[in-house]
Amino acid sequence: STLKLGMIPADGIGREVLPAAQRVLEALGSSIPKPEFIPLLAGWDHFTKFGTALPEETIQVLKTECDGAMFGAVSSPSNKVEGYSSPIVALRKHLDLYANIRPVASVPGMEGKQVNMVIVRENTECLYVKQEKIETLPDGTKKAVAIRQITERASSRIGRMAFELALKRAEERAANPGGSFWKGPPKVTIIHKSNVLSVTDGLFRETVRAVKEKDASNRYASVDLEEQIVDSMVYRLFREPEIFDVTVAPNLYGDIISDGAAALVGSLGLVPSINAGDHFAMGEPVHGSAPDIEGKGIANPIATIRSAALLLSHLGYTGPAARINAAVNSVLLEGQVSTPDLGGKSSTNEVIDAVIRKL
Ligand code: NAI
Ligand code: MG
Repeated sequence: STLKLGMIPADGIGREVLPAAQRVLEALGSSIPKPEFIPLLAGWDHFTKFGTALPEETIQVLKTECDGAMFGAVSSPSNKVEGYSSPIVALRKHLDLYANIRPVASVPGMEGKQVNMVIVRENTECLYVKQEKIETLPDGTKKAVAIRQITERASSRIGRMAFELALKRAEERAANPGGSFWKGPPKVTIIHKSNVLSVTDGLFRETVRAVKEKDASNRYASVDLEEQIVDSMVYRLFREPEIFDVTVAPNLYGDIISDGAAALVGSLGLVPSINAGDHFAMGEPVHGSAPDIEGKGIANPIATIRSAALLLSHLGYTGPAARINAAVNSVLLEGQVSTPDLGGKSSTNEVIDAVIRKL
C-alpha cells in the first residue's frame, strides 16, 4: 500500500521548507507505507499568473485521491486585491478542516521557559468568514464593518476536539511519566472575551463549557475546565506558560496567540500545526511565507518537519511520528546545526540533513 500525500508548497519559504517533509518521510523507510507525493498548485504567485489562488483541480485531487496533505505557506497582500482570497483559509473551509491544532513545546532539557501546551484554534468561522463591507457615510468618511460568526455547531466540535486531546495527552504522560514536566490533571482553558463580546464569545464559552458539563457519560470528568479572558491570557502566557495544557480559542485569538507562543519557544520556524476535520487532515507550519528571508535558503524547516509528524500521528502512525520528533529534539538539543532564527549559521538543507542522520 502507499500513502498518497498532496503537497502544496504555495509561496515564498513555503517552497523552501516543504521539501523537508518529503525528505524526512522518505527517510522513514518501511515503517510507513511508501509515500507518494502529488504536487499541487495554490498561492499568490499562482493567482498573479493564472487569476486563481486555488485551482479547482487542487481541491478535487485532495478530496478524491489523497490520504492527507502538507501545505507550505502563502503570501497574502495586506491590501485588498479584487478576486484574490487566501487559499489556505479557503482550503480549510472546502475540506471542512475545522480544527487547527498547534502544539507549542520547549525541548526537554533545554534552557528557557518550560512550555508544553496545545492551541486548538477554531478554523472555519469567527472573523475569518470574511464578510466585510464598506460604505461612505453622509459626511464623506468611510465606515467598514465585519461580521463575526460563532455557531454552536463549530464551537461544540472544537470544544470536543480540545477535551479529547486533553485526555490523549494525559494518557501519553501516564505512559511516559518522565517525558513531561506537567504533573497536574489534564486541563482545558477556554480563551474568550465574553466580558465585552457577550453574545459571540459568550456563545463560544458556554458551548465549550457544555461539552464537559452536559456530557451524559461524564467522559471528561477528569479534565479540569478553566477559562481566561484573551488579553490576560496573553499576559500569563508570557509570564508562566507552564500553566497551560490544552487551550481552545475562536479563530482570530487562536491565530494571534499562536505566534506569541512561538516566540516563547525561540522561533516561529519551530511551531507545527495540523488542520484536521473528521475526514481529512493537512499539516502546515504555523509561520507564513517570510518574504524577508525568502530565496536565501535559510528558512527553518523544523516547523514543517514537525507538521509532517503531526500528520503521520493523525493518520495512526504514532511510532514513526515519535521517531521524527525525537530526531528533531536531539538536533535542537545538540545545537550544532541550526538556522539563523535560532542564532545559528546553517542552511535549511543542513538542518534537514541533520534530522535525517538522527533518524
Ligand atoms: P511570517 O510568519 O511569514 O514571518 C514572521 C517572521 O518570522 C519573519 O521575520 C520571518 O522571517 C520569520 N519566520 C517565519 N517562518 C520562519 C522560518 N521557517 N524560519 C525562520 N524564520 C521564520 O509572517 P509575516 O511576515 O507577517 O507574513 C508574510 C506573508 O505570509 C504575508 O503575506 C502573510 O499573509 C503570509 N502568511 C501566511 C500564512 C499561511 O500560509 N498560513 C500564515 C501567516 C502569514
Ligand atoms: Mg497566523
